[in-house]
Order: sequence, then structure tokens, then C-alpha cells
Amino acid sequence: MNVKIHQFDAVIVGGGGSGLMAALYASREVKTAVLSKLHPTRSHTGAAQGGISAALGNLEEDNWEWHAFDTVKGSDYLADQDAVEVLCREAVDVVVELEHMGLPFDRTPDGKISQRRFGGHTRDHGAQPVRRACHAADRTGHMILHTLYQQCIKNNVTFFDEFQVMDLIIADDKVAGVVAVELRTGELHVFHCKAALFATGGWGRVWQITSNAHAYTGDGDAVLFRRGIPLQDMEFFQFHPTGIYRMGILITEGVRGEGGVLINGKGERFMAQYAPTIKDLASRDVVARAIYLEIAKGNGVNGKPYVYLDVRPETVNQYLAAAGEARRVDRAYIESRLPDILEFCRVYLGIDPVEAPMPVQPTAHYGMGGIPTTTRAEVVIDENNTVMPGLYAAGECACVSVHGANRLGTNSLLDLVVFGRRGGQAMAEYCKPADFTPLPPDPAQEVITQLECFRTANGARRVIDIRAEMQDVMMAHVGVFREAAGIQKAIEAIHRLQDWQCNQLRIDDQGKIFNYDVLDAWEMGCLLELAEVTAVSALARQESRGAHSREDFPKRDDVNWLKHTLAYCRPDGSIELRYKPVTLTKYEPKERVY
Ligand code: FUM
Repeated sequence: MNVKIHQFDAVIVGGGGSGLMAALYASREVKTAVLSKLHPTRSHTGAAQGGISAALGNLEEDNWEWHAFDTVKGSDYLADQDAVEVLCREAVDVVVELEHMGLPFDRTPDGKISQRRFGGHTRDHGAQPVRRACHAADRTGHMILHTLYQQCIKNNVTFFDEFQVMDLIIADDKVAGVVAVELRTGELHVFHCKAALFATGGWGRVWQITSNAHAYTGDGDAVLFRRGIPLQDMEFFQFHPTGIYRMGILITEGVRGEGGVLINGKGERFMAQYAPTIKDLASRDVVARAIYLEIAKGNGVNGKPYVYLDVRPETVNQYLAAAGEARRVDRAYIESRLPDILEFCRVYLGIDPVEAPMPVQPTAHYGMGGIPTTTRAEVVIDENNTVMPGLYAAGECACVSVHGANRLGTNSLLDLVVFGRRGGQAMAEYCKPADFTPLPPDPAQEVITQLECFRTANGARRVIDIRAEMQDVMMAHVGVFREAAGIQKAIEAIHRLQDWQCNQLRIDDQGKIFNYDVLDAWEMGCLLELAEVTAVSALARQESRGAHSREDFPKRDDVNWLKHTLAYCRPDGSIELRYKPVTLTKYEPKERVY
């Protein structure tokens, strides 16, 4: 097969927020390309709705240290505190940088960036909710994506759209390039580079109810895992409390930030029982569990597994009055602050949220774990934090780790731009004095063999059937609540599905042009791999912390489990777990009370 070879100093894999920020910074100094399996502005960053956090203090007193405290507490003390300090300190500057690039934030009456409340973000170490989420209506991620894309175009970044990266080339223990398939033609391309940064997003498609786009299949994590890079803290996967019932589509936490409330089937505001101080604005793990517990008690709406999220103006006004605020809202205000989610509910449910409450349930949303990195986005390959020269990762696919066991809303957009920027700077510094590592012979051969194997697979199992079964089993046994027997069942099911994937697969399209049948099969392999790592890591962790709630080990156990999991792929394909310590600076682990 004819393989095209390209040469760039820096290659970014993924065109979402972190990839574009890294590309922007790297391209100021070195020749840079972005490879994306989608058109970049269709990346999943565009789905992040409610805001990006930064302690600007535009509407009330705030400071980055309170933000850092909230982030560490929200993480259930598993976040590395040095990394959290970087995140929260640099938040202020990076948001102003985005503003100067032209990002159309909503404004306060005196022209500053508008800020709203979000779960887990408080003033003075938990005293009360604080307005920290900088927002552009409920399209903040979308606006970040478009702003950064325009900046990259202006800066002459070269884009390869609809190129699926399938392998990392390592030679002499350094990065030498990546292998990609061009979806339009089916042709193979090798990108010879000095440095590669993976920014490929998450893997929420492992679960049945998810806010994640179809393309969110964990490709970068799987590619690196197969090449011997460990994956960190994969047992921690966040369920966002409010997805549209049965569809999983995200209903932003900004709804609650604007004064919306959760109500059970008895018409009760139940969050006061679970988080007496900040109620509906507790951290996501707490709220998602509360909804599950309400449903388990028979308090779902009409006996179904959902509750209501109510943002009708009269409800919000009651909330504002109870909070001692003088202002009142009307329909026009809600329409201007939350236009997209109103539209989703009108289109998908035939419900107008300004007139009636929305049916919601927790939805698989965000992986706290991923490819382990330093605060310069350098990938580390072991529990001693040894850096692999030329390899970088940022954004959801990476684990720096600022989110620990549970991420606060709006900290993901922040993570993208802070560590994307740092990654781009670090790559440029690395590339300038570095030489290209020569490519090994036939660098694309493994990918060619793998794709041919998929293309000619004529068994009885279609990808769609394998995917449906994996999603069912992961939802049932490795979701908001877990316990050993269920996780074990999930692992057995995943092994059976992996066998189907290897030996019984059926592919109907044998062509090369836009062959999504083959692409789906390849992505399915990635999802199964990540489902297995998640389940194996979850089975081993015998405690409850953040998003990992073990019914058989309901307490957090700092004595034995205040440590990061590292999962490695052994040569025989089995998984080995090792551990490394959490970096603590000034926040002693405490019991979390909201
Ligand atoms: O609720 C939201 O708008 C989601 C934001 C996030 O995941 O950070």
C-alpha cells in the first residue's frame, strides 16, 4: 500500500479546545499540524455548555486560592495539589487571554465578563456558592472552539481534517511520529515529527446513557495504552447529574447556577437532605448519587428512573428570594442565559422548560483519569514520573491530575486551555533544539494489517451489537454505584465481547472511501479496552471516593487508598495495576461536607 509521509516539528492529535490551544502556542515557534478525525469545530469541546471557571471576582469577592480549595475538596482529595494550584492561578490570565482573542462572553451591566454559580464552587472554603463560571450563554465550549480555531488559522497551523490517528511511532525510546488513515480516501499517512501531543478527548461512549458525542471513543488513550503508556485513575468516571431522561444529552449545571432546582416525584426539593449548605449546587458526584438514591427510594417521577429539573421563572424567583437576592428573573432572562438547553428540550422532548420542568437522570459525562502527565503536559510512563521525550497529552484524554476522583463543573474547559497552552509551549521548547528521530522501517505496517483484518471480517457479530452489550453492562455494573460481584460480571462480559471483536466480527463495507464500518470497529476496540481498564481499576479500589462509589466499601479510606492507580497493558494483553502517591501541598484530606 502506498503510504504518504509528511514532516512537521509538532503534531497535535485532536482539534478540540486543548489541541487548538496547544497548536496555537506551538505554531508560534515551530512547524505545527493538527490531525482531527472530525472537522475541528465539530469537536466535543463544543458540547460544554455552562462556563469556564476563573476567580475573576467580577460580581462578588473571589480569589484563586478559594478556587483551588474547592477543586481539591471536589476531587475528594485525590487531585495533585501542585497541579491544582497551577490550574486555578493561571485561570484568571487564560480567561482574559481568551477574551482578548475575541471570545464573546456574556457581560455584566458594567461591561465585565459575566459569571454564574456552579456546583462545588464556593466563597471562603465552602461558606456559600460563588459566581465563578465565566459564560457565553450556554455555548461556552462552542465559543472557545471557534475562537481558538480562528486564531490557529490566522497563525498558519496546518490542519488535516478527517484524519484518524491509529498508532504512535516510538523509536529509540522517543516519539518519532504517528500513523493516520485519511477517511475520505482510506489512504495511510505517516506524520514524522519531533513531538506529538494527544488531545483526543474522552470515552463516555462506554456507557449507555451519556452526554458524549458518537466520536468520543477514547482513541488516544487506547493507542498509547497499547504502546506501553499507563492509564491513570480510570476508575473515576463522572456522571453529570442532569442529562435528558433516556437520551443523556447534557442539561447544563448552569441551570442550577441560575437558580433552577431538582425536584423528586413527590414534588420535594430533595437536595437539602444530601447537601444542607449548598443543596443543588453540591459537587456532581454528590448530586448524581442523590438522584439515584431518590429513585431507589421510589421517589422518581411517575415511578420512572428520573427526577425533575425546574427552571421556570417563578421557581427561580423563589430561589432568589430565599437566597436574599433582590433581583428577579423573567422568561426573557432565562431565554437569553440558556438558549441551547431550552431548544434541546423543545426539539427532543416537546417540553418548554420555561413552562414545565425537565425530566433528567445522571449521564456518563467525563473521565477524570487518562494519560498521566506533568504540569507541562509531558507524558509520564511509570510510577516514578519518568517523562517520555517528545510525547505530550492535554485535556480530557490526559490526567495531570487536577480533577482527582471528581471534577467540578467548568474546570474542564479551564483544564483544556491551561494545560493545552502549557503543552504547546513545552513542545515548542523541546522541538527547537531536537532532531527528528529516524522512522523505523514500514512504520504503518501494523495499522495496514489491522485495517485489512477488519475490512475482510466476515463473522456474525456486528459492531452495533457488541457496543450495545458493552454499554448495558457498564451502565448496570460500573456506573454511579458499583460492587465487586457486578464489576466482576462486567469484566467477564468485556472479555467475551473482546473475543467477538477479534474472532467473530462482521464488516459489511469492504471499500476504502469513508468506510465508517471499519472505523466503528476500530473505535469499538478502543472502547472495550478502556471499559476493561475502568472495570479492573474499579474492582481493585476497595473504598468509595468521588465518582467511585463502592456499595461494598462505602467509606473513603485514606490510609490505604490515598494514591493514584496506574494501569499497564502487559505484552499478553492482560492488565497490571501499580500505584503512585498523591501530591499534597497545603490541603489536608478532610471529610467532605457540602
Ligand atoms: O454543566 C455543564 O455545563 C458542563 C460543564 C462541564 O462539564 O464542565
